[in-house]
Amino acid sequence: MSKENETTISTASRPETNGAGAPSGEETLTVTDNRTGRSYEVPIVDGTVRALDFRAIRVDEDDFGLMTYDPAFMNTAACRSSVTYLDGTNGVLEYRGYPIEQLAERSSYLEVAYLLVHGELPTASQLADWQHQITIHTFVHENIKEFLGGFRHDAHPMGMLLSATGALSTFYPEADDIDDPENRHIQTIRLISKMPTLAAFAYRHAQGQPYVYPDNDLAYSGNFLNMMYKMTELKYEPDPRLERALDVLFILHADHEQNCSTSAVRSVGSAKPDPYSAVAAGIAALYGPLHGGANEAVLRMLRRIKHRDNIPDFVNGVKEGKQRLMGFGHRVYKNYDPRARIIKKAAEDVFEVTGRNPLLDIALELESIALEDDYFIERKLYPNVDFYSGLIYEALGLPVAMFPVMFAIGRTSGWIAQWREMVEDPEQKISRPRQIYTGERARDYIPIDQR
Ligand code: CMC
Repeated sequence: MSKENETTISTASRPETNGAGAPSGEETLTVTDNRTGRSYEVPIVDGTVRALDFRAIRVDEDDFGLMTYDPAFMNTAACRSSVTYLDGTNGVLEYRGYPIEQLAERSSYLEVAYLLVHGELPTASQLADWQHQITIHTFVHENIKEFLGGFRHDAHPMGMLLSATGALSTFYPEADDIDDPENRHIQTIRLISKMPTLAAFAYRHAQGQPYVYPDNDLAYSGNFLNMMYKMTELKYEPDPRLERALDVLFILHADHEQNCSTSAVRSVGSAKPDPYSAVAAGIAALYGPLHGGANEAVLRMLRRIKHRDNIPDFVNGVKEGKQRLMGFGHRVYKNYDPRARIIKKAAEDVFEVTGRNPLLDIALELESIALEDDYFIERKLYPNVDFYSGLIYEALGLPVAMFPVMFAIGRTSGWIAQWREMVEDPEQKISRPRQIYTGERARDYIPIDQR
């Protein structure tokens, strides 16, 4: 290849250093376009090449330039983020650099929410102020109750949560001023504080029970249990073990870098609507059975299996492609999901209070059979966070339809942290993928009587 044919693509608009602080431009990729014989040198920064750099690779002046094709974003980074670190090969999950195991053991959900949103663990006074702010914003406008009352008695609570979150934007029209940091902050507080209220109201609607107002004497998870389960008692007193287990579940679900719902929040948020609308998009994505609906699907699966004797037949069906083993497998984890390990332990703690869920035995046996089966070993399919979370939710007396709602409460802090990061990132623009057009071209319209 002659030197004239080598084109170095400008790095002028690129950051000067990579994440490790090494100067950029040190590492490059040379590609040769066999259509033209020309070679191109593309910078590698943070183990990544820029898709846009390939646009310079053209056969002639009229050529649009080379695009990259990556359905489902299997190998494309869409942002720089300092919120969550995930190493799926080694089963590592860290929020802002803190291992999930330590946070689940020692932190509270609200402290973790602060960490995700602000990037650092709070001091004692910062935490007290944050908790106070969240606590005094738990009420929703009375019209929200009427709005929820318009749903059918059997409406799925996730659909109700999705709509109610979107509806919040109409109660806070100033929320669309997303370029104002103070405004972003107050909407952050509102989203985190009101999500459990909306979730509990959706549940009580399905039960045909009156809504329970937030109790500001209680902590985040205790108040949620209050809004869910308070009946005629003057003061609801949550069992501290259940309250803690719930807090741990919220911590485990708080963020998971660029998953489907977070990408939805970022993608919709990139068009600059208010954050309620962006988070509603995240809830919509989380509704799906391959994402937040998986814990619901796990419970239905365990009930269908019904007895340990039926496990081998079920597993054979999975291997024949008739069904999936729900709660197994992950796009990123090719190892045991670290959250599943913590949740398995939390399940034992909850069962000490509520009594053992018989489905746990089916789940445990299913897991041990699958972990030794070549089909699952070869495909690196391990239990994910949802394999055991549904069992805990059921032990707490929740109907399966509430499971993704629980996921949404925890994930709200992650969505909003990622949304804020996106809004503040000067590199981000409106999200707009390309396509490879496969349809017809330039056809003449045919009148209906001639078709
Ligand atoms: N049961 C049986 N086979 C599976 C499963 C499963 N749960 N998951 C993946 N496979 C097989 C799949 O059939 C494929 O096999 P083959 O190569 O022979 O065609 C191979 O493993 C790769 O699967 P894939 O569908 O290409 O993997 P993916 O990265 O696109 O899907 C997933 C990831 C999570 C959607 C998928 O593993 C799945 O459907 N799992 C069950 C649903 C579930 O538990 N979802 C919760 C995810 S964790 C919570 C969250 O973050 O939302």
